[in-house]
Amino acid sequence: MTTESNDLYRDLEHLVSHRTTRAELAAGIPIIERGLGCKVWDTTGKEYLDLVAGVTRPVGVGYGRKELAQAMAEQAEKLCYFTPMQYSNPPAIGLAKKLASLLPGDVNEVFFASSGSEAVESALKLAKQHYYYKGEQKRYKIIARRGAYHGQTMGALSILGSVHPMRQVMEPAVPGAVFVDPPYCYRCPWKQSYPGCDLLCAETVKDAIEFEMPDMVAAVIGEPIMQGFGALAMPKEYWQRVREICDHYDILLIVDEVITGFGRTGTMFASEALGLVPDIMTMAKQITSGYIPLSAAACRPKVTEHMPAFLHLHTWGSHPVACAVGLKNIEIIENEGLVARSAEVGGYFLAALKELETHPLVGEARGTGLWCALDLTSDKTTRAMFAPADHPGPSLVSRAREKGLIIKMMGPALEFAPPLVISKDELDWAVSVLDEVLSEEENARGLV
Ligand SMILES: Cc1ncc(COP(=O)(O)O)c(C=O)c1O
Repeated sequence: MTTESNDLYRDLEHLVSHRTTRAELAAGIPIIERGLGCKVWDTTGKEYLDLVAGVTRPVGVGYGRKELAQAMAEQAEKLCYFTPMQYSNPPAIGLAKKLASLLPGDVNEVFFASSGSEAVESALKLAKQHYYYKGEQKRYKIIARRGAYHGQTMGALSILGSVHPMRQVMEPAVPGAVFVDPPYCYRCPWKQSYPGCDLLCAETVKDAIEFEMPDMVAAVIGEPIMQGFGALAMPKEYWQRVREICDHYDILLIVDEVITGFGRTGTMFASEALGLVPDIMTMAKQITSGYIPLSAAACRPKVTEHMPAFLHLHTWGSHPVACAVGLKNIEIIENEGLVARSAEVGGYFLAALKELETHPLVGEARGTGLWCALDLTSDKTTRAMFAPADHPGPSLVSRAREKGLIIKMMGPALEFAPPLVISKDELDWAVSVLDEVLSEEENARGLV
């Protein structure tokens, strides 16, 4: 380790790391200092293949893209910042117009913020202000799903259904969140099998609305593919039924595409593949491929039609530098055909992951485009989840990291979301490492 690297490890004690335990810090976390394509290097010079695009999955076009650095520098020199309130700027207008051309149906009004949580927060405020100005001020409840992840600001946190106690330790949160069971076919909460299940998962949304009183419900929110259980897609009919239910009760449907947007799942937005037109859609992450923070909440004109103004404001909203990067990033995604690539290479990746289903630890390999997962189980017959203390995820993640492969654990699963530019050779190598670490773990547990 170099002296500079040693200094960084010593100085790390001044940095509050996000959701990192004292034990993890004591064991030593990698300090990543540069990246190129799908690879990153830490301060000790160790090279990693990044199979999760920066771990929170934004880096769609890959690391080290000079075009994006240049777009950023040019805009910073021309106009670094100006308020989004009662003024505007060309990159923000240009990006809003571009998004309107890509978003489904008439979702064509775009509000820019900086993080996915802020996009969700903005979506919730759009929904509440929609009903406020329509004269239906009793509507404040939000139907969300167990296992959902929507972010960490207080509104977004209130509808967080993930197993981590991040919401629970912060309660009381914003009132009005109502949770329903998720459409998790591999471990169906109703012990049914699709398609003979009458989509009970969708009907539970209707039951919750009825129980909570329809005229008190503002919105239903969901990720089109859920991250909480590991890249969990659900039947298209689920979303069509949820859309019908929302229409029936005049409740807004918010689709959270913070992860799925911009080609992650093989279409520009996951809603497109589902034939779904949300009333409000959130996006972030791959909107700039992680080169600069930017997020958006977009809506259909009917959402804002009664509002004299959307009463919401962030200093960094419609940031010209971020929007310039967003525009250039979408240009790269389009010019390089990365959306179609995600579908094609994702299919190749999933086929290879399916071969790992022979491992005793692997219950189900699944994926949509370049968002895939291996759902792990302690019993392939009952599909039982591992108890948290016995979960092989942390050990598998660290075994893979030792070998230079970055993956992540997500709920019961291992999750993969590489940059959309990843090559088949890189994926082949990644799958061979996964095969190896699964065997090592199974040996250590006496399973083989
Ligand atoms: C679906 C979804 N919504 C919202 C968020 C919150 O985004 P951020 O971490 O940028 O605030 C995330 C983050 O992973 C997400 O996956």
